[in-house]
Amino acid sequence: MKYRTLGRTGWKISEISFGAWAIGGAWGNVDDAESLAALHAALDGGVNFFDTADVYGDGRSERLLARLKRERREKFYIATKAGRRLPQQTPEGYSRKNLTAWIERSLKNLDTDAIDLLQLHCPHPDVFYRPEVFGILDDLVQAGKLRHYGVSVEKVEEALKAIEYPKVQSVQIIFNIFRQRPADLFFREAQRRKVGILARVPLASGMLSGKISRTSHFARDDHRHFNRHGEAFDRGETFAGVDFDVALAAVEELKKLAPRKTTLAQMALRWILEFPAVTCSIPGAKRPDQVRENLAASDLPPLSQATLKKIHALYENRIKPLVHQYW
Ligand SMILES: NC(=O)c1ccc[n+]([C@@H]2O[C@H](COP(=O)([O-])OP(=O)(O)OC[C@H]3O[C@@H](n4cnc5c(N)ncnc54)[C@H](OP(=O)(O)O)[C@@H]3O)[C@@H](O)[C@H]2O)c1
Repeated sequence: MKYRTLGRTGWKISEISFGAWAIGGAWGNVDDAESLAALHAALDGGVNFFDTADVYGDGRSERLLARLKRERREKFYIATKAGRRLPQQTPEGYSRKNLTAWIERSLKNLDTDAIDLLQLHCPHPDVFYRPEVFGILDDLVQAGKLRHYGVSVEKVEEALKAIEYPKVQSVQIIFNIFRQRPADLFFREAQRRKVGILARVPLASGMLSGKISRTSHFARDDHRHFNRHGEAFDRGETFAGVDFDVALAAVEELKKLAPRKTTLAQMALRWILEFPAVTCSIPGAKRPDQVRENLAASDLPPLSQATLKKIHALYENRIKPLVHQYW
């Protein structure tokens, strides 16, 4: 495992880290023992950064990470998120009272005195035009409740606005072979300001593992069943917003590009690592075997220029016209 520096925090974090949404909820049935085994496998493989949120399984995912902390001695960082407990996203919802209450709840779930990295969880876009919200976060840092804070966003423009606040250390954004727009202006700006980038949904919800087919079955409580068209939350969070059949056809082409002894999931994760602006990707995983496969991508050689060119062409021709301007 290789490590990259996160923003101006001085933390060296694993370039392939762990996304803990699936072990919390909204991805069908998960078993806590198996989820915990996946978390242990991540630590065994050198992961030292875990992304979660207060709403994943209503705290289940945070509580699993607290258990991991009790069971292991290694130092690792936990990034959580706040804002999605609001019944409806409004800028007014990001009040001192609400933020403080959400953070106190996460502190309890995580069994800690201070949150390593608190991210605003894809808030209403107007929140980025309310400096007072970032002032409240500064106060919570001063009070010792947060070590650092960052944001998780849907759109590039939200990311660009968020990093105008000088204490924002990280931006979490969807970035993968099917979602390439962040690599243009935003990556340059984030690098210039020394802001960390957490590439989320790196496998396009598992689509870029190559294991999904037209006959794949998703449980009723799996967002890949209930949010394909954005019925419950932003459409981009499910299969990175790419139409299911279009994605399957593109994946068949991508499979042909995977280097020898490299799985498609590994190629997808290796592709993200080719961008130095990215601090880490945070693939979700439910089982230790998925974790081990994903982490191995850090030790692979860089993808060849020829492969990168073909991936670029595939994006330009098949995916970009359908998604590029939406996020
Ligand atoms: N708004 C936000 O801030 C937000 C939104 C989305 C995600 N996130 C964060 O980003 C993380 C990553 O995104 P994501 O979990 O949505 O999507 P993802 O990482 O693209 O996909 C994860 C899913 O792919 C499957 N998978 C993982 N490794 C695999 C492998 N090697 N082979 C085959 N299948 C594999 C697993 O599901 P199955 O085994 O069930 O197929 C896994 O749950 C989340 O966990 C979360 O921490 C944040």
